[in-house]
Amino acid sequence: MDKFVIEGGKILNGSITASGAKNSVLPILAASIMTDSKSVIHGVPKLQDVYTMVKILEYLGAKVVFKNNTIEIDPSTIARYDAPYEFVKTMRASISLLGPMVARAGKARFSLPGGCVIGPRPIDLHIKGLQKLGVDIKIEDGFIVADAKNGLKGNYIFLAGAFGSSVLATANVMCVAALSKGETVIEFAACEPEITDLANFLVKMGAKITGIGSPCIIINGVKKLKGVEHKIIPDRIETGTFLLAGAITGGRVTVEKCQPMHLGAFIERLTETGVQVKSGKNYITVSGIPRWKPVDVVTFAYPGFPTDLQAQMMAFLSLADGVSVITEKVFPERFIHAGELNRLGANIQLDGSKAIVKGVEKLLGAKVMASDLRASAALVLAGLVAEGRTEVSRIYHLFRGYEKFEEKLRALGASIKREKDTLQ
Ligand code: UD1
Repeated sequence: MDKFVIEGGKILNGSITASGAKNSVLPILAASIMTDSKSVIHGVPKLQDVYTMVKILEYLGAKVVFKNNTIEIDPSTIARYDAPYEFVKTMRASISLLGPMVARAGKARFSLPGGCVIGPRPIDLHIKGLQKLGVDIKIEDGFIVADAKNGLKGNYIFLAGAFGSSVLATANVMCVAALSKGETVIEFAACEPEITDLANFLVKMGAKITGIGSPCIIINGVKKLKGVEHKIIPDRIETGTFLLAGAITGGRVTVEKCQPMHLGAFIERLTETGVQVKSGKNYITVSGIPRWKPVDVVTFAYPGFPTDLQAQMMAFLSLADGVSVITEKVFPERFIHAGELNRLGANIQLDGSKAIVKGVEKLLGAKVMASDLRASAALVLAGLVAEGRTEVSRIYHLFRGYEKFEEKLRALGASIKREKDTLQ
């Protein structure tokens, strides 16, 4: 296993280009199996999660070529409809194949994903949505066994749970509805830009979908879809992470080829801290200041403040001039990074789904351990500004979701290198 060694205190300056969105490309690759003809997907980030998705698609029988951020997928040779535990446990987002498999073949045998470090993560909404469309679902030996032997039929589906809408349940239901008979109404659909990207991809394939981007999506089923060419939207979470890297070091960083419209809540909160944020059609620049104001943050489904930027924002607010309260409304237990940030000198107390972040004047380098993808990014951000040397171990989490992470940071002037971790 590798670790990052960071010498803190370098002020980041310059620009980087946003990569394609991980959370778009995974469900879009999954949806590309809903036809027998080839699709070509551009702007695909080279990430561990994408490699895992490619592996599963190949396991199913598809032919996949991944070159220069473009994936060509020929699904005509797909011959199996199961996803074993080995795949699902490495990447929860493999659940986004459940809908497309059922839509394509009327059946699927899918390992249950189980919990993960950010919380219990149930899949009841995926199951409820599919059942409403006529899919019979049984749980057998840790597997979801889905069967649509009586055909797929559109329906009205209220798709929200205790924590609101679900991104991947919306993706799965939208995919199955696209090839179901008649009309499906998804009420309380996820509005995330990645769902819009998937819907636009499906429309290109021949699906009939209206209300895209709204909480009420209407789908009129068609008999057949076709393979298409598509470009993935920029990754808003990567963009936010790099802007925070600039801000936390007091530097001036621009993220090019991003989509500022997708980061409204984030830009609003960051601006309230006193950091200068300037955006144009497809770029955002932050100009850091020596000390920033605290701000309260509540994560919500889109267009709210993204839970996937909560850990990075916590790292930033740990150095604010005052107390910030962060409330996690999407994954109430997603706070493992707080303890590690405290090891670097932060002062964060947890109270249920709230984190009370008392700003400190400085952080001090230490050895810390990454627990999940975004928590890892938060620790790196803290390490960039902590005095002295910070070692972040278990960084494999980062490569699941950030393309060329250390190269991009180095291009901005960070002192960060990857080393073999002897203590594992
Ligand atoms: C997606 C994102 C992930 C992000 C999350 C929330 C991908 C590949 N992953 O994950 O990065 O953190 O959205 O923005 O796009 N829930 C239920 N029942 C379900 C499904 C979800 O109660 O059947 C709950 C979850 O526990 C959570 C909330 O709904 O509290 C939102 O989760 P969801 O949107 O489903 O997350 P994912 O789609 O798995």
